[in-house]
Amino acid sequence: MGRTGLQLSVLSFGSWVSFHKQIDDGVADELMGIAYDSGINFFDNAEAYALGESEKMMGRVLKKKNWERSSYVVSSKAFWGWRGKQNKPNQSGLSRKHLVEACHEALQRLQVDYLDLYFCHRPDKNVPIEEVVWTMHQLIQQGKILYWGTSEWSGVEIMEAHRVAQQYNLIGPTVEQTQYNLFERNKIENEYLMVYKTVGMGTTIWSPLASGLLSGKYNDGIPPDSRFAIEGFDWLKDRWIKEGHLEKVKQLSGLASELEISVAELSLAWCIRNPNVTTAILGATRKEQLLQNLKAVEAMKKLDTAVLQRIETIVGTKPVLPEF
Ligand SMILES: NC(=O)c1ccc[n+]([C@@H]2O[C@H](COP(=O)([O-])OP(=O)(O)OC[C@H]3O[C@@H](n4cnc5c(N)ncnc54)[C@H](OP(=O)(O)O)[C@@H]3O)[C@@H](O)[C@H]2O)c1
Repeated sequence: MGRTGLQLSVLSFGSWVSFHKQIDDGVADELMGIAYDSGINFFDNAEAYALGESEKMMGRVLKKKNWERSSYVVSSKAFWGWRGKQNKPNQSGLSRKHLVEACHEALQRLQVDYLDLYFCHRPDKNVPIEEVVWTMHQLIQQGKILYWGTSEWSGVEIMEAHRVAQQYNLIGPTVEQTQYNLFERNKIENEYLMVYKTVGMGTTIWSPLASGLLSGKYNDGIPPDSRFAIEGFDWLKDRWIKEGHLEKVKQLSGLASELEISVAELSLAWCIRNPNVTTAILGATRKEQLLQNLKAVEAMKKLDTAVLQRIETIVGTKPVLPEF
């Protein structure tokens, strides 16, 4: 992972939306089992997912599976709190108080002694960066977390954290959790370029299928058992279900058929072929989805220069880089 010694599988598995809201312990157990048996070693979570219930579900599965603790990596993220609109001051954000309390709560819910990765789920303009870096460093020294990272921070904010870490000889952030898919590319392919080069950084990318859009499942409408049909997720549906997007996914689906792979495999393979992507976090609500998505590793072989160029022509989303 970036410049650390930690090994993450190129595909990983996360629980946003699905755990508790869509799937129960039985399905979570089945999916995590398939993931682990296929070589996935990183399971992603956050305090805010299903208001803490997602961590509790993952914790129950981990306990039941009884895998060697050294064989997997588990994360949590703090920022939004887990009480939703009931959050009181200090029950969200990146203050020392919330970061420490959220860490303790995540350890309890996940039923583990330490978190391998602990993320600041968003930047917090109300907290001095020194307080964040010192807190994360101290949590590492206390053995409660092993590595810390950021999620959706700007390149400048990440570099500020490194400046503070260097100034006080503290352990800085080593990983960023960023959205990355065929439609959302700027941070990974443009903004972070200097960060990889200077201080180095691993990336655990999220929504590699744009919440399922890039599986082609929405090409002919919204299936009633899909994410975009869930009550309260209109904001996400409106973000992704747009004429321009659907037309491009349909063209990508045609290209994928020519290559004899699914458009989900093509889209995931495209993400993980980027050397700056450490791992793509998969989401799934059923076994068939996960089994299909795992084939992305094999599908990478089919993405030669000509295919990559055809993908670029279809999506037209490549960031324009400044000329040096
Ligand atoms: N740091 C952050 O701010 C942040 C934000 C979001 C996510 N994340 C992390 O990233 C993980 C992955 O994100 P994501 O769930 O948005 O990933 P995604 O791969 O873009 O979407 C996954 C969803 O798409 C559908 N799907 C997946 N594969 C499919 C297939 N082969 N065929 C048909 N439908 C398929 C499923 O939803 P349905 O079956 O319900 O349609 C599945 O739950 C999360 O679990 C979380 O750990 C982090």
